[in-house]
Amino acid sequence: MKIAFVKWKSLVNRLRFWTFNAFCLISLLLIPYKFCTGQTQDKEGKMDAQVLWKYMTIENLYQNYPTWPGKEGFYESTMPPGNILKLFVNDIALDTIVNKKGMFPEGALLIKENYTDDGKLFLITVMYKSKGFNPAGHDWYWVKYKPDGEARLEGKVDACINCHVGVANNDYVFTGSIK
Ligand code: HEC
Repeated sequence: MKIAFVKWKSLVNRLRFWTFNAFCLISLLLIPYKFCTGQTQDKEGKMDAQVLWKYMTIENLYQNYPTWPGKEGFYESTMPPGNILKLFVNDIALDTIVNKKGMFPEGALLIKENYTDDGKLFLITVMYKSKGFNPAGHDWYWVKYKPDGEARLEGKVDACINCHVGVANNDYVFTGSIK
C-alpha cells in the first residue's frame, strides 16, 4: 500500500514536471508569434512587401479602412489613361489628412486600387511610411502589387518617386493638401 502510494506520488511529480516544461516550451514558441503579428516588417525589422501584404490583406484588411475624405467609392484618375481608382487610408494617415498635419508619421498607409473601365481590379499601389527607410524620400516605402499579392516593384522605387517628387512639399501625396 505504501509502495503504491510512493509510486503514485512520483508519477504525479513527473507529470507536474512535464506539464510545467510543456507550458514553458509553448510560451517560448508564442513569443516570436506575438512579435510577428500586426507587423509590416520582416524578422530583421526590414520592410518586406510580402509581410506588408499579409498585414493589409489578412491581419488588418485594408478594404475596411476609411477612404480619403471626399474620395469615397470609385473615382477617376487625373492621369492618362484615367483609370478608375479607390483610395484607402489607415487611421494614422486619416488623422494627418483630417487635421492637416503636413507630414505623415511612421505607420501611415495609403492604398490605391486601380480598376479597368469594366470594373476589374488590376493593380494596387501602396505607400507606407517607415521611419529611417529612406530619409531623402520622406521615408516612404513604395510597392506595386498585382491583385494576387505579387510585388512587381517595391522599396525606393524611382519610377514612383520621380513622379511623386513633384508634390514633395505635400509629403509626396497628390490627392489633397495635407497642410
Ligand atoms: C506619372 C506620375 C506617377 C507615377 C509614375 C506614380 N504615381 Fe502614384 N499617383 C500619381 C497621381 C497623379 C496620383 C493621384 C491620383 C490620380 O489622379 O491618379 C497618385 C496617387 C498615388 C497614391 C495615393 C496617394 C496620393 O499620392 O494621392 C499612391 C499610394 C500612389 N500613387 C502610389 C504610387 C506607386 C507605388 C507608384 C510606383 C509604382 C506610383 N504611385 C507611381 C502619379 C504617379
